[in-house]
Amino acid sequence: MAKPVEADVVLACGEHLPAVDVWMVIDVLRATTVIVRWFELGGGDLYPAASVGAARDLARKLSNEGETPLLMGEENAIPPAGFDLGNSPLDLSREAVQTHSCAVMATSNGTKALLDAAATGTPVLAACCRNALAALEHALSIGSRIGLLCAGRRRRPGWDDMLCAGLLLAELRRDHPGLVLADSARLALLAWQSAGSFQESMASADHAVFLSKIGYGADIAFACEQDVASVVPMLHEKPDGDGMIAVLRNSAGDRPNLPRLRRAAAASGATGTHRRRAPAPDKFASFLQYIEDGAQYFFLGSEGRKKDSLEKKLRMRQGYSDRSRTKD
Ligand code: MLT
Repeated sequence: MAKPVEADVVLACGEHLPAVDVWMVIDVLRATTVIVRWFELGGGDLYPAASVGAARDLARKLSNEGETPLLMGEENAIPPAGFDLGNSPLDLSREAVQTHSCAVMATSNGTKALLDAAATGTPVLAACCRNALAALEHALSIGSRIGLLCAGRRRRPGWDDMLCAGLLLAELRRDHPGLVLADSARLALLAWQSAGSFQESMASADHAVFLSKIGYGADIAFACEQDVASVVPMLHEKPDGDGMIAVLRNSAGDRPNLPRLRRAAAASGATGTHRRRAPAPDKFASFLQYIEDGAQYFFLGSEGRKKDSLEKKLRMRQGYSDRSRTKD
């Protein structure tokens, strides 16, 4: 019997990173939305850089090696001097992507969050609203302990990334009703549940208000499009001189096809609320498996809460099965 799916959320770069099976890095405004867009348009390797200076150096090095890198990113949301593009997903054209063999990207928070996650040695995916479902499918193909790492802003939580994390958790919980949430994951889910209009709520985030003020308001609507992309950017390590360098590649092809239902939903761009769902698996099965064979497993939240909820679920299930027997 499969282990219960567990989810934890880190609300800003710089927080302690708990042990998980896979990190899904979120910087919805706008680094991971740009990264997903790069691969949607058929982009090749994308190198996240820790700073603007490191990005310039890497782009120069790649050019000397015969590559044609696209140097993109932002400093205070605008393109740094000498960069080919800023960090607006709407500035990425198919032509710009296809006339460059790779991309080098540096942003204020998003690329740093990717590199922080890479340093843990755990698989790292780039996620946003556009590839939410595809990224979740890939994360679940790696393990059952899912970590959502929100880039935030200057090491503080951002409403935009928390909202996107809540969207991912809501989608995850639809297929895994027994989803176990750490406290910070409960906060992110509450943020999403409180949002009312998702796009309006996203547009109210501090960084979204700033982006709108400086002329990037259209990026917010674009970043809010849900499940319109099936690409899953994943960090790989590439030999670089006597060391290794982190590079993002689309790994969507590396995983089993999306189940028929999911593919249809992804193609139609249906949001979670309108998708037909496969019958939910016996949501107590995974808990019973642990109770029956006494297996110990890592729990993201307090041990006490798990025991209470497990016993409560067993009582409910016992009641449920008694009732169904009397009905037969
Ligand atoms: C970030 O890294 O925080 C974002 O990319 C900022 C932006 O794009 O404006």
